[in-house]
Amino acid sequence: MTTTAMGEARAALSGARRVAVLTGAGISAESGVPTFRGAGGLWRRFSALDLATPEAWADDPGLVWEFYDYRRRVMADKAPNAGHQALAAFEARLAEAGRPFTLVTQNVDGLHEVAGSSRVVHLHGSLWRVRCVGCGRESENRDVPITPAYEGAGDPGADVVGRGFGPEDLPRCGCGGVVRPAVVWFGESLRDEDLRAAFTAAAECDALLVVGTSAVVYPAAGLVPHAKRGGAVVIEVNLEETPATAWVDHHLTGPSGEVLPELLAP
Ligand code: OAD
Repeated sequence: MTTTAMGEARAALSGARRVAVLTGAGISAESGVPTFRGAGGLWRRFSALDLATPEAWADDPGLVWEFYDYRRRVMADKAPNAGHQALAAFEARLAEAGRPFTLVTQNVDGLHEVAGSSRVVHLHGSLWRVRCVGCGRESENRDVPITPAYEGAGDPGADVVGRGFGPEDLPRCGCGGVVRPAVVWFGESLRDEDLRAAFTAAAECDALLVVGTSAVVYPAAGLVPHAKRGGAVVIEVNLEETPATAWVDHHLTGPSGEVLPELLAP
């Protein structure tokens, strides 16, 4: 990253009245949370992406819950890093100045809220919420393990064979229906209200900051051209270039835990 790029990006942000932010797994990497397409995106012989599907759930809900239970266990001792914290402090400063701010995240880990961000749109849902496949009721659930049967399960080792959890081991709603993770899987629709909030923020913002996303999953990745067409300045923070880089005005190369504190410092 050149000092010129940093200076220009800082100037663009301070000149923007409305700011929107899109984050992806990369912002949590320095907290020790594996990204999807990076080296940590494997669990046993599965790509994390193959288990985040309605097909995997239809085939073997016990295995899908073993995977999500493992992810919840991994998250339980993780804390926000300097990148999350810089965004939360930035939001607080903008709020004081009466400048609108929206943080749109593809992450399901909840670390933005732990850092103190308050206006967060969760495009892909949350690891800490469950939804009944029977009655549709959604609720917060922080149980680790998700049911007593899952105690000690979830070993990610490549040669581990699953425990073969059956219907009796699955977590259940008060109505008796099975609950699933309230995350958006591949091939599923995002919630209308979240989509609307995200695309409105992108259309109306003067600056969009895109952090730690490979920008290959739609509709989230579509926020970048949408903001650009709406006249926003777009700033990308990533270790590498992405398909979004072609749209951006400033690309800051580096770990978000180092770049964001400098970019967003008062
Ligand atoms: P990916 O794993 O696809 O991409 C992570 C991005 O973060 C890559 O572009 C990395 O270069 C970058 N990165 C890694 N470490 C970084 C760091 N310390 N600082 C800055 N950048 C860093 O994750 P996402 O783009 O979030 O969806 O993936 C999008 C969606 O695909 C996810 O929300 C998930 C997945 O399938 C669902 O589960 C529905």
